[in-house]
Amino acid sequence: MDISFNNGWLFTEDYDSGFDNAKSVRLPHTAKEIPYNYIDCKDYQMLCGYRKAFTAPAEWEGKRILLRFDGAAHEATVFCNGEQVGDHSCGYTAFTVDITDHVSFGGENVIDVRLDTRESLNIPPFGFVIDYLCYGGLYREVTLQVRDPEYIREVLIENTDLHEIRVKIDCPCSDIVCDILDCGGSIAASASGNAFELNVPDSRLWSVDDPVLYTARVRAMRGGECVGEVCIRFGFRTVRFENDGFYLNGEKLKIRGLNRHQAYPYVGYAMPKSMQKLDAEILKYELGVNAVRTSHYPQSHHFISRCDELGLLVFTEIPGWQHIGDEEWKRQAVVNTGEMVRQYMHHPSIMLWGVRINESQDCDDLYKRTNAVAHLLDSGRQTSGVRYIEKSHLLEDVYAFNDFSHSGGNAGLKPKSSVTSKKHKPYLVSECNGHMFPTKPFDDERHRLSHALRHAKVLDAMYAADDICGIFPWCMFDYNTHKDFGSGDGVCYHGVMDMFRNPKLAAAVYASQSDEVPCCTVSSSMDIGEHPAGDIGKVYVFTNADSVRLYKNDVFVREFLPCREDYPAMPHPPVVIDDFIGEMLETQEGFDRKTAEDIKECLMAVAKHGPSALPPKILAKYAKLMLLKGFKFSDGVELYGEYVGNWGGEATRWRFDAVKGGSVVSTVTRSPGQRAHLEVTVSKAMLSEGDTYDAAAVRIRAVDEFGNTAVYWQEPVVLQCIGALEIIGPSIISLKGGTGGCYVKTCGSSGTAKLSVNDVEIEFEINA
Ligand code: GAL
Repeated sequence: MDISFNNGWLFTEDYDSGFDNAKSVRLPHTAKEIPYNYIDCKDYQMLCGYRKAFTAPAEWEGKRILLRFDGAAHEATVFCNGEQVGDHSCGYTAFTVDITDHVSFGGENVIDVRLDTRESLNIPPFGFVIDYLCYGGLYREVTLQVRDPEYIREVLIENTDLHEIRVKIDCPCSDIVCDILDCGGSIAASASGNAFELNVPDSRLWSVDDPVLYTARVRAMRGGECVGEVCIRFGFRTVRFENDGFYLNGEKLKIRGLNRHQAYPYVGYAMPKSMQKLDAEILKYELGVNAVRTSHYPQSHHFISRCDELGLLVFTEIPGWQHIGDEEWKRQAVVNTGEMVRQYMHHPSIMLWGVRINESQDCDDLYKRTNAVAHLLDSGRQTSGVRYIEKSHLLEDVYAFNDFSHSGGNAGLKPKSSVTSKKHKPYLVSECNGHMFPTKPFDDERHRLSHALRHAKVLDAMYAADDICGIFPWCMFDYNTHKDFGSGDGVCYHGVMDMFRNPKLAAAVYASQSDEVPCCTVSSSMDIGEHPAGDIGKVYVFTNADSVRLYKNDVFVREFLPCREDYPAMPHPPVVIDDFIGEMLETQEGFDRKTAEDIKECLMAVAKHGPSALPPKILAKYAKLMLLKGFKFSDGVELYGEYVGNWGGEATRWRFDAVKGGSVVSTVTRSPGQRAHLEVTVSKAMLSEGDTYDAAAVRIRAVDEFGNTAVYWQEPVVLQCIGALEIIGPSIISLKGGTGGCYVKTCGSSGTAKLSVNDVEIEFEINA
């Protein structure tokens, strides 16, 4: 029996002074809520305490009583009725304590957790600076498990071949049966014993397009009766990094991923299942990637399980950031490796173990041990580890490198041969971009475009290089960080999304690579005042369509194709629009083609160089037009006003039609906005209390009447909840770059609730 143990905890910020002034909390819980930015990381560092009372019915006597903690950041000591029952020194892996011998059956019991959330602990990732906040708290779920004494301690599933698994079961019971159930619940194969290999030739394979899952139902039997059951979901598949690429089930697949931290505004790591799942869904459906790196630690099983279900590949790694500590610290890193592999190995989405501390120096004694642990436990996956140093020692199977060489004008990535001399070993780019070009949603248009183009360049470079298995650019969304990093406000603006997972322009670079949903995102607002000298330059459309047709006030300008010249390798290069006059001088003014082209060239040169600095070639062309075609200076001024300046008359309305297979699949209209209103999107409006509270993500966008983000709208946004719902964070916020958000969570009762966001109202239905 599993009893969720997430409600009814008392929490004190000072363990030593007891629980008299403790407040009641539910898990997942963060030791301290923090502001959106301008943060003091000392606020969440403390020696805090959690207490929970429970009654153990008399009939539990004779059973084993266990407590499983999914995430306690960072060092936990657990007491049952005042007696210490266990401790754990990693904030990112789960642990179980057996409290049986201290439980009063038929009576009241008290569990205390002394939790050290200080970043001064001598365990990974601590000891140096870290570019992310390491929030404390019992931030994942806790479960009380009531078990037969001969319970199943652990089930390990290794993928040994395409249709083959090796199962190891830790259970004192002599009669163990394992059934492999397909997704319809039918038994596909069975075996018995506590270690066996199973070949299921007809099993369907797990893949990114068809992520078929199976369940291993393991039962401990005694006298024909089942005394314990554990069900573990897994998939049949092989993952293999080779010198010439990554192979899933023997088929080559380019890995297009992003890095993800497990952080959220205000509550840090503490978000329930639905929010963990949502990030996987955003990666798959909004960002169109096929992989994610859980930088820089193992993340929630809810997140990884959703990756299993969606077919997202995962590169997960042990906690750490650049620093390697003393022997005790290293010992803990090895323990963390074992815990990571044992706890996560059944997830088919996980394709690679990161067994080095992110971006640390070579440390062969440590990495021999971490590699050995991972290889011993799991023969089905290779190891890697993320470096920023070139030509470093390679004790792993895959050389993973953070390639921050791209700075806008140069090659997207370094060649593999310049990074590692291990020609015959697989190579993966584990990070790029990030700090090379921090970008806020409220940076100006050129900056946001440059950010997006850098992502396009690295992606294209990865696709162009046969010996680069894949790429995980930095990163999925902005995150809170320490004083040593970020923009001085405690935020690293490195994301292709903001902290609320609102897309920046760069997000469209990823979204447009997938063919799932039509995508057409235009880089420019088409407002000249956003650009120096009023020159909007080239406009990029990030799209998976075949072409883009441009219209000005409903008059066809020209059709543009994806720019294969600059982006030869990526699936869908951006469409570059560099001609806003197109055919209009012919169709609207009646010039013949040659004259129209000459006039266009002159007008565009005026836009680019200004009238007083025209190149001689243009002046000659202009003179020719005047002499041969009777063209007057005033004609030029008039045409300039009409086709370049777009001044006067009706506001110019630019329409971009994305065309696929001959049909328009998506349209964007750009014109100066005169009214902004709020658009509020919630991740779900039906919330259910399950093992704990539920939450919904609320994304807020100021939009103009054409549906475009009103980037510079900065009015206050007032959030109000009526009913059984709470707002996470402050109730008055401002949008940043026209976007923002909040989270709401259930508070234990059923009913309907309403969230108002200024004048927009959203109804929620809550099941408790
Ligand atoms: C890397 C590091 C990441 C992040 C990134 C920013 O060096 O691994 O955690 O700090 O830089 O670009």
